[in-house]
Amino acid sequence: MRFMTDRYAVFGHPIAHSKSPLIHAAFARQTSQDMIYETILAPLEGFADAIAQFRRHGGRGANVTVPFKEQAFALATQRTPRAELAGAVNTLIFDDARLLGDNTDGAGLVADLTRNLGIVLAGKHILLLGAGGAARGVIGPLLDCSPATLIIANRTVGKAHDLARHFGNQVEGCGFDQANTPFDLVINATAASLEGELPPVSPQVFRSGTLAYDMMYGKALSPFLSLAQQHRASVADGLGMLVEQAAEAFFVWRGVRPDTRPVIESLRAA
Ligand code: ATR
Repeated sequence: MRFMTDRYAVFGHPIAHSKSPLIHAAFARQTSQDMIYETILAPLEGFADAIAQFRRHGGRGANVTVPFKEQAFALATQRTPRAELAGAVNTLIFDDARLLGDNTDGAGLVADLTRNLGIVLAGKHILLLGAGGAARGVIGPLLDCSPATLIIANRTVGKAHDLARHFGNQVEGCGFDQANTPFDLVINATAASLEGELPPVSPQVFRSGTLAYDMMYGKALSPFLSLAQQHRASVADGLGMLVEQAAEAFFVWRGVRPDTRPVIESLRAA
């Protein structure tokens, strides 16, 4: 069967509140791409089947979100170097028999930091909070920007050490209590904000001139961003990263780079 309009979708569980369809529809309008982008609620035990079915029905590519990024990594028949480094796949490209897995999360974070927020990462001291999938996904692209230091602090210290080791001697792992000097950039990649909780980060990591970045976003400041603000840091949430990782996926699929600024602004206003 042949479809005139190329189909894309984001797979997750849950998925109803995903902003990705809005974002990709805006990109498609802006760049005159003939495509549709839907949400697909994949059963927890049925991710691979859901992807196969979507391919049979004209799917050209997919985004993958919680909890399927590791399964998408395993399912891919080929992976980009940045997906290999991340250990997870958030973007799939369907191409005849090939299922190419990519990861645009780290590129999205770096694009938001450097292009939207005007941060120069080279030579900077970066503290990354968390050692799960979200943290791992952004380390490679951050290192590509040549920071002076990249420290991973995690509640379970062993996981911070394991993750740091994975990236060789460029990265150091520690517990929250050992991160107690000021950093230029502090990124919250823990799941704490999702639960409305504050990761046990020392206020000493903030000073005036620090940027505190929460990979989560929401209407109100997260407890992490509130603490940072109380200690004179500038703050940013992850809405820009969400739009930038989508733009990177859109570029991978369509070969055109959308203008993210109006899309970030309209989501912020909504
Ligand atoms: P994700 O893919 O979102 O990173 P994950 O792999 O389950 O999810 O990792 C969650 C991360 O958030 C971990 O670093 C976790 O710390 P532990 O390794 O010690 O479990 C961290 N995390 C979750 N809730 C937290 C909290 N309330 N305070 C601090 N860290 C928290």
